[in-house]
Amino acid sequence: MSTRPSSLLRIAFAGLVLSFAVTADRATAATTQPRALGPLPAIEAPSAELAELGKLLFFDQRLSGDAVLACGSCHRPEAGWTDGQQLGIAYPGTLYFRNTKSVLNAAHARYFYWDGRLTGKDMPTQVRDSITESHFQNMDGRVMLERLKQVPGYVKRFRSAMNAEPSFGATLKAISAYEKTLVSRNVPFDEGNMSASATRGQQLFEGKGGCIQCHEGPMLSDYQPHRTGVAGNPEITRDPLRHLTLRSFAKFMGVPGFEIIREDPGFFTVSKQEEDRGKFVTPTLREVSRTAPYMHNGTIATLVEVIDFYNAGGGTAEGRDPLLKPLDLNAAEKTDLLAFLEALSGDAIEVGEIDLPPYEAIADWRSVPN
Ligand code: HEC
Ligand code: HEC
Repeated sequence: MSTRPSSLLRIAFAGLVLSFAVTADRATAATTQPRALGPLPAIEAPSAELAELGKLLFFDQRLSGDAVLACGSCHRPEAGWTDGQQLGIAYPGTLYFRNTKSVLNAAHARYFYWDGRLTGKDMPTQVRDSITESHFQNMDGRVMLERLKQVPGYVKRFRSAMNAEPSFGATLKAISAYEKTLVSRNVPFDEGNMSASATRGQQLFEGKGGCIQCHEGPMLSDYQPHRTGVAGNPEITRDPLRHLTLRSFAKFMGVPGFEIIREDPGFFTVSKQEEDRGKFVTPTLREVSRTAPYMHNGTIATLVEVIDFYNAGGGTAEGRDPLLKPLDLNAAEKTDLLAFLEALSGDAIEVGEIDLPPYEAIADWRSVPN
């Protein structure tokens, strides 16, 4: 059985509108063939000026409450645009209870986050979530605008890139535009120049390994929730800050029993269906060789170990997805599968020095010359 989160439920509370992925037509039978792997479709390139403004904002710590965190603090280019940790760092005074996902190719995601709680069709809402959530940048929109208006370099760039004054919506748009530029380049798999070993690995991925049943299509993801049975990460409860973040997140999301919650509820957070506890949305495998450690809680350190995990038929947790079975791969087959996963990474996307425009004492930001 596969479930298709095909409709969106828009829920408004506390003045925020979050777009949730929900499984509506659960009856859809899994008779469909997996979508073929292949290159990513082209997306309309944003204007270079807008993307450049977004890049500065992505790396500017002044967009967080206490001005010490930027998107780029947790999505570091040199760590595959993740933080490289098992579990995410977070706003000072908090720690996150999941692994930090990469922003590479996020422009192609159908749903965002390990639990798929936001739709991929609305990137600006995802950016807003990152800026305002107390565990991410914990930023008040009004304070953010007051800060931006005291940076003449930004006032000028908003004018020339968007013909607008600094605004919350324009900020979300600019960062979204930058994210559209963070897509894989020169990927051996896309370019059709994989090694013989990687080519054999693709056959295993689509055949004996059965990986394509969930890792399908150009993003190598069906964007459906599955329980692979990954072991829990004890740090989530051992560290009071992580445990608090998990509990307050669960409370905010309306998860019953949030007071005593000890395990990440996964897709249950979104669907509130008991059968969805411990399910996570299949992640993309693009650029995966850069984004260790793996899984929603970072408990698998390397791709070699991920392959061993699947070879054993997945984890030991109860109620594992029936699609997972012991694979009986030999050493040469494991090597080929690894070569294929590695062939899904392209050139490293580097950013170089970032020259952020400074604050300047100005009486009225409207008088900043063009
Ligand atoms: C304090 C660390 C932190 C900061 C700051 C942060 N993020 Fe994230 N980001 C995360 C974590 C952790 C996740 C995974 C959350 C989850 O799945 O529950 C994530 C997930 C994402 C995703 C989803 C990717 C996917 O495919 O599902 C995108 C896109 C993203 N962040 C963009 C941004 C942007 C843009 C900013 C700045 C406005 C930002 N992040 C700031 C930690 C951070
Ligand atoms: C039943 C669906 C399913 C099948 C089959 C499947 N996967 Fe996965 N895969 C997932 C899900 C769901 C996750 C995330 C699990 C979690 O975080 O707890 C995942 C995670 C991964 C990751 C970690 C990615 C990251 O960013 O952390 C890799 C690598 C991976 N799978 C490779 C494979 C390979 C190789 C195969 C075949 C041998 C395979 N998968 C078969 C659903 C599946």
